[in-house]
Amino acid sequence: MIPFGDLKRGYLSYKKEIDCAINRVLESGWYILGNEVKTFENNFGFYCEKKYAVGVNSATDALILSLKACGVTSNDEVITVSFTAIPTLAAIYSVGAKPVFVEIDDFYTIDSSKIEERITLKTKVILPVHLYGQAADMEPILKLAEKYNLKVIEDCAQAHGTLYKDKKVPAGDIGCFSFYPSKNLGALGDGGMIVTSDFDLYNKLLLLREYGQKERYYQVEEGLNSRLDELQAAILNIKLSHLDELNLRRKKIANLYFKGLKENKDIILPKLRFENGHIFHLFVIRYKNRKRLMDFLKANGVGVQIHYPIPNHIQEYYMKTFNERYSLPKTESYSNEIISLPIYPELKESEVFEIINLINSFKTTD
Ligand SMILES: Cc1ncc(COP(=O)(O)O)c(C=O)c1O
Repeated sequence: MIPFGDLKRGYLSYKKEIDCAINRVLESGWYILGNEVKTFENNFGFYCEKKYAVGVNSATDALILSLKACGVTSNDEVITVSFTAIPTLAAIYSVGAKPVFVEIDDFYTIDSSKIEERITLKTKVILPVHLYGQAADMEPILKLAEKYNLKVIEDCAQAHGTLYKDKKVPAGDIGCFSFYPSKNLGALGDGGMIVTSDFDLYNKLLLLREYGQKERYYQVEEGLNSRLDELQAAILNIKLSHLDELNLRRKKIANLYFKGLKENKDIILPKLRFENGHIFHLFVIRYKNRKRLMDFLKANGVGVQIHYPIPNHIQEYYMKTFNERYSLPKTESYSNEIISLPIYPELKESEVFEIINLINSFKTTD
């Protein structure tokens, strides 16, 4: 049995350090927005090469707060992809904005050449998603943002340590990260972070994160309650100190898949935008006869998943709420062919070889 993910293996790798940090927080008597969060914000901001970081409750909240901080409200348009996790869209809907979907490129990220034609007077933000751990094509996006005076909010939920041209993402104004347990940098509960080098945005985000309070019991803005707690921050501080080695381990597993599957003519492997930079949150292949291969792998004890089976422009909520219909051929056909194979730092080499051998032994006619 090779599970798709195994969070317990991840915990056990750092059990001693994590248990010790948890005890420290328990004994401290301070559980929300304290020194652990401050330290983690400083460390993670530094890791992302950004000046400021704001710990929040999740990446969904990070996106909502960022959209609010950029002044996005109802009837504004946000340009993004349909080929992403539902929360990217949930955030856009929750500020009342309309998503405008752009086709993806062969790296599963927004096709930067198709953005300009979708910019209108209502466009406020471009929201690229660094999907599966690989950066979107940021340079043209940042140029367009400058030309049309738009903000860029990057969904970095799957991109902790992802490089765009040798620099960590986000490449633009704001990056929104998730610390959902299965992420490359995962908490033992929910958590998220916004990073930016823009001082005004940073100050707005601090207000939005806690009821719009400037100081305790003094409200100057609207706001939510979206705080990162001390326990998660303490755990994340430990995991962050191992993040580069964890990402490297994922890259090594990805290389085994690349090598082992490259002769297989039926499999389409991930394309790399840069030689280095993909952190392989997910290893996604394409296969025409997806269901048969997935059934075969599951029958042989290998956990596989689909990220994501239904593109957002044809989700039930979108269809009943918005009138605009899209034809996004790549988004639609790729959604029918993608399969995510197990990839996590604790996955053993022998397990990767077993998966490769199973895939290579499978014939469409099996
Ligand atoms: C691309 C993407 N965006 C946003 C999110 C939302 O993250 P969270 O679960 O922390 O709200 C996720 C996580 O599932 C994601 O994969």
